[in-house]
This record gives sequence, structure tokens and C-alpha cells, in this order.
Amino acid sequence: MIQIKDFKDYEGKQIETQGWVMNKRSSKGIEFLILRDGSGFVQAIVTETEAGEQAYTAAKQCNQETSVRIKGTVVKDEKQIGGYELHISQLEIIGHSEDYPISNKAHGIEFLADNRHLWLRSKRQWAIMKIRNQIIFAIHNFFQKEGFVQMDAPIFTGNAAEGTTTLFSTDFYEQPAYLSQSGQLYGEAMAMAMGKIYTFGPTFRAEKSKTRRHLSEFWMIEPEMAFFDLEMNMNLIEAFLKFVTASVLENCKPEFEILERDTTIFENMANTNFTRLTYDDAVKILKGEKEVNGRKTTETLQQDLSEVLQEIEKINQEISEKEKAISESTISKGQSNFIRNKIDQLKNTLKDLEVKAKNIPEWLKSAADFTYGEDFGGSDETVLTRMFDVPVMVYNWPHEVKAFYMKRDKNSPLLAKGVDVLAPEGYGEIVGGGERETDLNLLIEKINEHKLPMSVFEWYLDLRKYGSVPHSGFGLGLERMVAWVCKLPHIRETIPFPRMYGRLMP
Ligand code: 4AD
Ligand code: MG
Repeated sequence: MIQIKDFKDYEGKQIETQGWVMNKRSSKGIEFLILRDGSGFVQAIVTETEAGEQAYTAAKQCNQETSVRIKGTVVKDEKQIGGYELHISQLEIIGHSEDYPISNKAHGIEFLADNRHLWLRSKRQWAIMKIRNQIIFAIHNFFQKEGFVQMDAPIFTGNAAEGTTTLFSTDFYEQPAYLSQSGQLYGEAMAMAMGKIYTFGPTFRAEKSKTRRHLSEFWMIEPEMAFFDLEMNMNLIEAFLKFVTASVLENCKPEFEILERDTTIFENMANTNFTRLTYDDAVKILKGEKEVNGRKTTETLQQDLSEVLQEIEKINQEISEKEKAISESTISKGQSNFIRNKIDQLKNTLKDLEVKAKNIPEWLKSAADFTYGEDFGGSDETVLTRMFDVPVMVYNWPHEVKAFYMKRDKNSPLLAKGVDVLAPEGYGEIVGGGERETDLNLLIEKINEHKLPMSVFEWYLDLRKYGSVPHSGFGLGLERMVAWVCKLPHIRETIPFPRMYGRLMP
């Protein structure tokens, strides 16, 4: 069996392959099948005269998602997807498919989400999953080449790491337990044994919010390094994100094409330093009190808004022109369907633009009203990152908004040595991390302040009693990274079966 991705090695040869029919169109005496086998896509043709009766009849019986085994000749054809076409000589149906629910027409997002088990077969989802796979591979590559040891942190835990409001509780042999929000605390213990470690595992947050960035179950990569301070941590984050994006850029060209993702931002990122801002400076920029390259956030976003409004006007005009064209009697049914499809697409774009036009003034208002000392909200991150084409690292946070384990700054006691990495293009936080508190008394104070039960942290405090060293780490949300790399409007498409508020099935 030859996979579609390897057809390039079989030009002019007879091969055998298998896959699914994604789409079929018929013309006089010819059936055109688009095949998918997981490795790629190819157009296959069956002609009544060349392939013969059996193959032609079988092809006629194929529907969307019929699975098939095929013999045929690989023919070079630059015009076709993948650059090759398969001329079928034999076709055998493996599994029939009747009334496949997902057609090539536009479907509503809830319908697609309900049919996630089938939706995964679409070309766009295929591209996203391949990019997710490449990101995962690159992450392991990076840490392994840097001498980190991968560790698996427990999923049942007795303690909260990231606040008690987002815990999923469960019953562990009549003892209360929680699904892990983060492997970090265990990572810290392991780093004291192994030096540099990273976890790569599922984490859980019970957040009753339906945003485009939140999942209830997501995968986090959490490196933890002994003898690292905040600056070394930030340097590592930057090298790590550059390595991962470069690897995806190199290996996922066809996938980016399917997604129509312009990758210039990653090409430029390779040779540009990330922006590093203290929380103080970030707040000033956010509120329009400080300029970036001679511009204030207010100016930049006002300009965005007027561009969006212009675009809306243009699209509205285009839609009415197209509607007029359809109403003319000379137009054929085929042409009219084609135009209708275009109109649907334009209307979708219009919807997105209208949301943006509504959002921008709200973002600006909430940015202007931002109170120093608070954590950034999603829209604050969008406004701030709009000013840069590279990820922005915001560090030195007010300790009050950060987790109990963050190291306090001895010189500025109100600050903690945390860092958030905000992705550009409106994506916002993808990484959270920082240097860890090593002062036993400060740590005890913080645990009390956060009203956490001391008993479940005894083991963690031990790490500060026996050969404690400065150490740092961070957590990358895999799905947030995939959403940004693929430029997806919502996190739900980044994971095969998303678990989020309001969705447990399929
Ligand atoms: O910022 P967070 O909460 O940090 C931690 O959990 C630390 N223990 C990490 C560390 O220092 N080892 O989460 C880290 C990242 C976020 O930046 C975000 O990318 C992702 O995890 N994340 C989520 N992704 C999807 N859905 C959610 N509900 C997420 N919550 C956090
Ligand atoms: Mg965070």
C-alpha cells in the first residue's frame, strides 16, 4: 500500500492505495474522486473507457466518506492538489457511507461540534491536527536537546496550585482529591533531583466561562529548572518559542496553505528579540500614557476601527452587487449557486468584522479604565499586544495577583518575579511562569494568605528546607499555542475532543 504523501516517488507507476472519498463529481463517462488517506489528498479519476466496467460502477456507488481500496497509475499534474493525479484501474469499496451528515456547505459551529468525531475528517481539521502534532514533537525535541528530563506529574492531587476557584473535585477512596491544575509543584520537587525537567500532561480548570481561550481540560508543558533566575527563565522561554515556531514553519507548509495562514510573523520572529516589559510599563502603554514607536494604543486602535468600518462598507457593496447579479434572468443555475456561496462567505466575514467594530471601542474603554495592580483581562492583552509583532513578555507583577509560590522582589516588596508571555495578533497569554519563592517564612505566610490548607503543602515546604536553590519555570498551554500558530478564532478546534464549559460530548 502506498500512502498519498509518497506518490512523488511513484510517478508513472502502478500503485495500490486506500483511503476515503472526500468528494465526488461526475462528468460524461468520468468520475472524479478526491481521496484522503490521512497522509494527504489526491484527485483520482475513473473513466468508463480506460478503467473498465467494474471500477467505473464501483466509483459511481461511492459517496462522501465511502472507504476504498484502489489500484491505479500516478500521473504528474501540477494543477492538482499535491501535484499528482491518480488514474484508477481497479476500485473496491471497503465500507459504505450513506447520508454523511457534514456536507461541503457551511454548517453552524454547534452542529460541527456535536459531530466532532466526523468533523475531524475535514481538511481544515486535518491541517490543525498535523500542526498540533508538529508542535508537540518540536517541544520534546527542544527540551531533550537541552538536557531536560521529561517527568509525569500526578493527575489526582490533594492540593490546589493555581487558586481554589477552578478546582474539579473528585473522590479518591473516600478522600477528597482534585484533578491537577498544574504539575509545577511536583516539577519543582523533581528539578531538585534531576536539575532540569519538563512535564507534558493534561491539566484541568473548572472555569465556568465560555471564552475563545478557555478549556476545562488542556495540555500543559511545564519546565522547571534548578539554579535559574527570572532572566534566565525568560531567555529560555524565548529560545523555546522560537525553536517551536521555526520547526512548524519548516515542516508544515501544506498545512499552513490549507489554513490560509500567513506565516510572515513567524519568519520575522526568528531574528527579532521578543519585547520585554515590566508590568508598570505595560500598564502605561495599555492606558495610552506611554507610546510605542511614537504611537499610543488609542491611536492605533482608532485607526484599526476606521479600517474595519471601511471594509464593512466595501463588503456590503459587494454583496448587493452579487445579489443583483443573481436576480438577472440570463444567469445559469450553476453560476447562481456559485455566487450564492460567495455571498454566504462574504456574510460570514461581515459578521466577524461587525463583532470587531463593536469590540474595539469597548476594549479601548476598558483599557483606559484599567486600575494599576489588577491582572490583565483578555481584551487588555489584545490591546497591548496589538502594538507589537512579536510576543510580549510582561514581568515583575504585583504579587497580589499572582500565585502563592511566586518569588517576591526583595528590592520592591510589592512585586513578584512572575512573567506572562502574550502572543501577538490578539491571542494574549500563552505562557505563565516565574521564579519561585525560596524563603520558607514568606512561603508559609503566602499559603496562609491564600487560605490554603498547610497540611497538604508540608512536602512542598520540605523542598525549601533541604538544599533549597533559586529555581524557575513556566507553563505553556499547548492549545493556546496551537490556536495562535494556526490563527484560529477559537480554542475548541485545537484539540481532538475539547472539554469545556457546556461541552462533554462527543
Ligand atoms: O498561567 P497558568 O495558570 O500558570 C501555571 O499553571 C503555572 N503553574 C505554570 C508554571 O509556571 N509552571 O497557566 C499556564 C498556561 C497559560 O499561560 C495558558 O497558556 C494555559 O496554561 N492555560 C489554559 N489553556 C486553556 N484553557 C485554560 N483554561 C487555561 N488556563 C491556563
Ligand atoms: Mg497565567
